[in-house]
Amino acid sequence: DDGIVPAVDDGELIVVSNRQPYTHSYDHGDGGRSITVNRPAGGLTAGLDPVMQETDGTWIAWGDGEADADVTDDNGKVRMPPESEAYTLKRLWLTDEEVEGYYYGYSNRVLWPLCHGGTMKTDYVERYWQRYQQVNETFADAVVETAGADSLIWFQDYHFTLAPRWVRDSLPDSAFLTHFWHITWPGWDTFRACPQHEQLLEGLLGNDLLGFHVERYCRNFLDCVDEALDDAFIDPEGGRVNYEGHTTVVKAFPMGIDPDSIREHAEAVDDDFWREFQSSHGIDAETSVIVGVDRLDYTKGIVERLDALERLLETRPEYRGEVCYVQKANESRSLIPDYQDLQTEVQESIDRINDRFGTDDWQPVIYINEFIPQRELCGLYRYADVMLVSAVRDGMNLVSKEYVAAQVDDDGVLVLSDQAGAHEELGDRALTINPYDTDAFADTIERALTMDGEERAERMVALRERVESNDLYAWMESIFDTVDELRAKDADD
Ligand code: G6P
Repeated sequence: DDGIVPAVDDGELIVVSNRQPYTHSYDHGDGGRSITVNRPAGGLTAGLDPVMQETDGTWIAWGDGEADADVTDDNGKVRMPPESEAYTLKRLWLTDEEVEGYYYGYSNRVLWPLCHGGTMKTDYVERYWQRYQQVNETFADAVVETAGADSLIWFQDYHFTLAPRWVRDSLPDSAFLTHFWHITWPGWDTFRACPQHEQLLEGLLGNDLLGFHVERYCRNFLDCVDEALDDAFIDPEGGRVNYEGHTTVVKAFPMGIDPDSIREHAEAVDDDFWREFQSSHGIDAETSVIVGVDRLDYTKGIVERLDALERLLETRPEYRGEVCYVQKANESRSLIPDYQDLQTEVQESIDRINDRFGTDDWQPVIYINEFIPQRELCGLYRYADVMLVSAVRDGMNLVSKEYVAAQVDDDGVLVLSDQAGAHEELGDRALTINPYDTDAFADTIERALTMDGEERAERMVALRERVESNDLYAWMESIFDTVDELRAKDADD
């Protein structure tokens, strides 16, 4: 027991997230049915899994996949992980209509664009809102059914703005509700465009502790509460809101990654791996490699980045044939038209650059959209000379931290958008760009490519230290420590 969750007794931690930590499916082969278990790929789900195992809690999530692959024990529970059965996974099976309205609709066609400042991309369809409320109620019911008097309930992200209030109203005060908001929180002038803004705020104020990545999002949230809810009392210094007799503490917790696992993967590859990677993608051994790794999302600034690369090749012909940009892209939310349009736009930009500058033995942009194993991804991070993170708006951007953690030779350069939350922590040692300023962005790529070894090392050593000390476990610990403090205070009052 390494004490990440000090004040939580066994069985009392309940995590609520849209994505589930493990998926199961049945293979229907010749020998009958067998079960395939897919493990969490990374990020939060992988990080929370050991915490759940330590505390024998319950994880409640959307059971995306095959319903009949639920393997239950004698008490009708699904125990995870399969080999040690250390905690309970409670999957909520949603109908196609619910998924359409709650996930593809209100979560990703309203809240996602709204919170990233994209009011023009929001789509207020009444049935989205209806189903979002309905699914939040389903999750709230599942929490109430599971929770005991001293449970610690931890909601994740924008899929569950309404559930906290309903849960708060049904549980005794001794149960504690906390929520981490993984994306940006916009300013009031953006948020007020949402017709349901009051209900969203009231829902979140059902929590005892609400966490954001950076201070600015906390300030934006408090400002929205101040403007929207007449009866809310706000203590901006203490980050507290009192609304209808209940207090919510609002605090910044910048999220980290698991640097050890990234470093181990990066250390496990060698020059042979890289030569093989280069040759299999037609990259000449002498070419400088620039990398970008993103979920295909319009917030990531992929098109803006390609514009800057095009500008570089256009204005500095000496780089033609000398650099290669590798874009690793993970398809995402592809049923939504804005995401389909983005896929087309990215493809068009890449084709244009390759047609315009490519030669028989040099392709400026390599596009990888198939799955690559973690080891290979970390190898790409390690050997790439420069990483470009050009989000037009991003709550944190964990990819920038993964790149840093994989720099075991301390010789890469991180180019980082000042619109990403990660810029607050890494901005002074990364090279800063504004993704919309194409000329300056192109200049900065050149600066990264020409930076001498000494400066690269000096910057990267500092970045690595930060990413390693403020890791995923430090993040969880500071959240759980705050929960403890607040609970202790409540008990005193
Ligand atoms: C963002 C959100 C997460 C979400 C992830 C992937 O990082 O903050 O909550 O899980 O995107 O998106 P998806 O819609 O595929 O879960």
